Amino acid sequence: MKSVAVFTILLATQACANILFPFVQPTCDFSLSKHQGCLSGQICIANNTCIPAKRVADLQLRDSAPRPDGRCGKDFDGATCDPEGEYGGCCSQYGFCGKKEGHCLKSNGCQSGCDEDGGDLPPTSTTVPDSSGAQSSEPVMGSPTAAPDGDGPATTDGTCGAENGGTICGDWPRGSCCSMYGFCGNSSTHCGEGCQSGPCDQEPTTPAPGPKPAMANANPGTLKVVGDSGVPAMHAGLLPNGRVIFLDKVEDYSKLNLSNGHYAYSSEYDPATNEVVPLAYNTNAFCAGGIFLANGTFMSIGGNGPLVDIDDSVGDGFAGLRWLTRSIDDDSLNGQDWIETNDKLDTKRWYASAQTMPDGTIFVASGSLNGLDPRVRANNNPTYEILNRDGISNGESIPMDILYKADAYYMYPFIHLLNDGTLFVFVSRFSEIFDVGKNETVKTFDELSGTYRTYPNTGGSVLLPLSSANGWHADVIICGGGSYQDITSPTDPSCGRIRPQQEDAKWEMDSMPQGRGMVEGTLLPDGSAVWVNGANLGAQGFELAEDPTLEVLIYEPAAELGKRWTTGPKSDIPRLYHSVALLLLDGTLMIAGSNPVQMPKLEPDAEDPYATEFRVEIYTPPYLSGDDANRRPTDIVLSTLDLKSDSSTFDVTFNAPEGAKEVKLALYHGGFVTHSLHMGHRMLFLDTEGFKSGEKEQKITVTTPPNSNVAPPGPYMVYVVVDGVPGVGQFVMVS
Ligand SMILES: *[C@@H]1O[C@H](CO)[C@@H](O)[C@H](O)[C@H]1NC(C)=O
Ligand SMILES: *[C@@H]1O[C@H](CO)[C@@H](O)[C@H](O)[C@H]1NC(C)=O
Ligand SMILES: *[C@@H]1O[C@H](CO)[C@@H](O)[C@H](O)[C@H]1NC(C)=O
Ligand SMILES: *[C@@H]1O[C@H](CO)[C@@H](O)[C@H](O)[C@H]1NC(C)=O
Ligand SMILES: *[C@@H]1O[C@H](CO)[C@@H](O)[C@H](O)[C@H]1NC(C)=O
Repeated sequence: MKSVAVFTILLATQACANILFPFVQPTCDFSLSKHQGCLSGQICIANNTCIPAKRVADLQLRDSAPRPDGRCGKDFDGATCDPEGEYGGCCSQYGFCGKKEGHCLKSNGCQSGCDEDGGDLPPTSTTVPDSSGAQSSEPVMGSPTAAPDGDGPATTDGTCGAENGGTICGDWPRGSCCSMYGFCGNSSTHCGEGCQSGPCDQEPTTPAPGPKPAMANANPGTLKVVGDSGVPAMHAGLLPNGRVIFLDKVEDYSKLNLSNGHYAYSSEYDPATNEVVPLAYNTNAFCAGGIFLANGTFMSIGGNGPLVDIDDSVGDGFAGLRWLTRSIDDDSLNGQDWIETNDKLDTKRWYASAQTMPDGTIFVASGSLNGLDPRVRANNNPTYEILNRDGISNGESIPMDILYKADAYYMYPFIHLLNDGTLFVFVSRFSEIFDVGKNETVKTFDELSGTYRTYPNTGGSVLLPLSSANGWHADVIICGGGSYQDITSPTDPSCGRIRPQQEDAKWEMDSMPQGRGMVEGTLLPDGSAVWVNGANLGAQGFELAEDPTLEVLIYEPAAELGKRWTTGPKSDIPRLYHSVALLLLDGTLMIAGSNPVQMPKLEPDAEDPYATEFRVEIYTPPYLSGDDANRRPTDIVLSTLDLKSDSSTFDVTFNAPEGAKEVKLALYHGGFVTHSLHMGHRMLFLDTEGFKSGEKEQKITVTTPPNSNVAPPGPYMVYVVVDGVPGVGQFVMVS
């Protein structure tokens, strides 16, 4: 949304708010906080240049007459709405005149003619529940315990700075520094760059490493366009029928229509034929989270409000729960629409993350209550709730400390399930191990150096392959990121890798060849991770990124530090905001999406150099390129497709290529893919016995995962990998 573009550094004084500076570029020192050396109204960017900050004032409306077509607002020359006219007097966030709460409430993004407090309209909830689950008024975090230092009034709610009445943090319990986004705290994200007041001198102790060139992979693989996603590919998942589901928000255009004459915003793509069919849903799935249920049903969780002017057949999805069932062996389900019931999330969640727990319940965390400016505390939902095995909420939203601490970077946290049933949670630059059963943080880690790593500057995070050899202990890598939500934000080339369960766990730093935001990592069945998509400059949000990063990067976790990254081929298709990547059964990687504009644009223009991308691309990894392509194991047959996480065994027969030396059995869960997060994504190498080196006909005995912490229930793919080359995968159910 364009309105999110105002979520940027605002250091301008009010007096300068209406002056647009010409592109004079006095030099500054990016490493210093507070943009020293820049004129008021400018910010210092990574190349030590001052540029004009994009400001709220730039987006504010000029007074202008209503248009006959009922369009209005910043995209329509500031046109207002006629209260006596046929549409209504309020201009909605998306530039439509109307009179409903979606148009009129400031909290819904109303641009002009707004109804401040809702009037006789039902107010939109801006509350979070208290710990009993009951709705209470806005969260109040208590008062400072002593008189503040400095000259502004003391905060009363933990917000501060220019956008919050010039308040200072004083002795606020979370810390005395006012972050660039206006929240009090004591971390380097509060006291370092952009800090507005308080002891603003705490840069991270060790700076993150800069870009490091990587060797070209000797066998880089290839990229090829194979089809069309039909709808913008904001969210995706590979379902047990081997087909890919794309899921998008309500748009004013898609390439597929439903039988009711409306556009489809979801589609089902068959990689075998590259054919795509439309799917219907009932509530707006804009920036949802999602996960698989234990029984294999795919779920999309949360979303955004309705856009009745664009499509009145789709309702409010803020608390939406959407189910889609496909089967390994029942083709009759193919093409069926999303199912929605009266069941909703306990609280609204736009940009929530989800993870399946060992008992098949679903942990859902974070999200925005209203969207719009995440600096407004009332928009935030820094809580988690649990869905049962059917995906029904238990009706309690529980405050989660790390999500408060990360304000305003609380959305779309990275979550990985650990082998003792606890969760590794990473958001902003912070991370912890969280015990859901105890509602308790059991361990915290050093801040990851470098920039922000989660929304709106998301990089990617991958839980590296688990195996008995590493005791099924987690090894997590996080790469990429950015500094703030604006098109001028530098992006981060660095990666941090950590084994959270090790005593004294520390981040090991490494670097990609260039800074990348929105870069997403996907495991391959040979144990490597491939990283694609993103941009070298800017952030997540509409029209907020440029300089697309087109190169495929390959990461070998087991290689020596400094030699893990190699480069693959370069695409010629920019994949910016709202892109996806996911592994298919045949062992190739599907890449789709990029819709970095508010509503689809089919051709780039001067205002939007990056249009909506419908082309579906396949990356064929090194293991299926060159000579390796002929060395796939074939005729793979599993003795059962129902695996239990209990160290039991099953058999796999297959034909190995000539001279085969080694076999690995990968158990792979792709998860729910969106915004460079792969929710629930994990891969295990299972122990095998009975491989006979050099022989063609093979029968191996495979031991299933030891417990459901290591492999929570759900659909997985099994890949037989011989000498690094996988055969075609097969879906199984793990329970
Ligand atoms: C710094 O980067 C900005 C944004 O890319 C660019 O407009 C400007 O020309 C650069 N300045 C220098 C001195 O390289
Ligand atoms: C930061 O504040 C938290 C309380 O929110 C406290 O536990 C922690 O020790 C503080 N850290 C520093 C470095 O002061
Ligand atoms: C598809 O749906 C849109 C929106 O309802 C409509 O304008 C368009 O005419 C439809 N196209 C076809 C081919 O039915
Ligand atoms: C899984 O459970 C969900 C929720 O109860 C249900 O809608 C779906 O049909 C089930 N899926 C299968 C494959 O039985
Ligand atoms: C869970 O812990 C948080 C602190 O992180 C606390 O605010 C909340 O009341 C606790 N809730 C429950 C249900 O235990």
